[in-house]
Amino acid sequence: MNRKITEHVHWVGVPDWDRRLFDELIPLPQGTSYNSYLVRGSTRAALIDTVDPPKFGKLWANLKALGVQNIDYIVANHCEQDHSGSIPMLLERFPQAKVATNAKCRDMLQDHLHIPNEKFLVLAEGQKLELGGLSLEFILAPWVHWPETQFTWLREEKVLFTCDFLGSHLATSSLFAERDEVLAGARRYYAEIMMPFRSSQPKYLDRIESLGPEFICTSHGPVHKKPFFIMDAYRQWSSDEVKNIVVLPWVSMHGSTEAMVCHLIEALVDRRIDVKPFKLSEADTGELASALVDAGTVVLGTSTALVGPHPQGLYAAALMGALRPKTKFISLIGSYGWGTKAPETVKALLSNLKAEMLEPVYIKGAPRAEDYKALDRLADTILEKHRGIGIA
Ligand code: FEO
Repeated sequence: MNRKITEHVHWVGVPDWDRRLFDELIPLPQGTSYNSYLVRGSTRAALIDTVDPPKFGKLWANLKALGVQNIDYIVANHCEQDHSGSIPMLLERFPQAKVATNAKCRDMLQDHLHIPNEKFLVLAEGQKLELGGLSLEFILAPWVHWPETQFTWLREEKVLFTCDFLGSHLATSSLFAERDEVLAGARRYYAEIMMPFRSSQPKYLDRIESLGPEFICTSHGPVHKKPFFIMDAYRQWSSDEVKNIVVLPWVSMHGSTEAMVCHLIEALVDRRIDVKPFKLSEADTGELASALVDAGTVVLGTSTALVGPHPQGLYAAALMGALRPKTKFISLIGSYGWGTKAPETVKALLSNLKAEMLEPVYIKGAPRAEDYKALDRLADTILEKHRGIGIA
């Protein structure tokens, strides 16, 4: 399978239709793809990023189908092995090729893949690889995702290669992204992969806009031929704006926490606040992550199991702490049997969110009338807080 994007750029990547888990963590309901791009000038050829090592055979077949006899540069925009992992196999077949990347990525590739130093060609910000009538310019983008991440810009054909940034986990037969096919998956991908680095992204969006690319070629999912919708979406997701939404992940062992969750849902709906509950024992964590992108408030509902939060509540708190959504307010509800340190543990796990902790409603045993009133007061407080920031 190979696809032409512009006169000199071909997609030579590989779809992974059946993969259902990434990093042994992230569900992939629509599979994914590992995108690799062949750029051929009049004198030299470059391959931009490679594929996950188990798929190398297909990448190799794609190159052979295009009659590729030689690769001069393997551009590594990012060190993570789903893009870099096939570099050693390519170097075996094209021993004269150089791995072109920035200094940080070179160091990390040596750590992860043990590629010898002499195989590298290190370029700095703004330096170019000349391919004959075409040039590939490096734009360093540290912490848009990882510390070594970079973009590569093919000015002559207005093609920007952004690796993971603006991508989506989606295996599709479409070469180019259609908004309706891609947007939900791109949001989910942003939530899982990009959201922790939200604060560094607006300046890179500005930089991309100033370049005016006609094609944005990511390392997962289809190519953006009309990049406006994905740029607009990232502008919104990475901004500080939130919506009048409460995300409510919950787990209940004997029904007390569940009764509290059900009551709070109704209290919030009565106050015209949108609620997105996730029963953690059955929820897709990608859906939960996606819901966190623009929620004004997150309330975790968890029972206590052996003094601490139920392991699924613990997992949800740890996940939210790691993903660092822009939610403005957080709280905790739930029930314990005979003793608990769940509130302290949850507060600690969520401490790196820049969010105000609202008074938890954490009770012993089954909820009584006064506990339901406390949940009503929590709903009142959330409404008041949402009004305070102009979203309710
Ligand atoms: Fe698709 Fe950060 O690797």
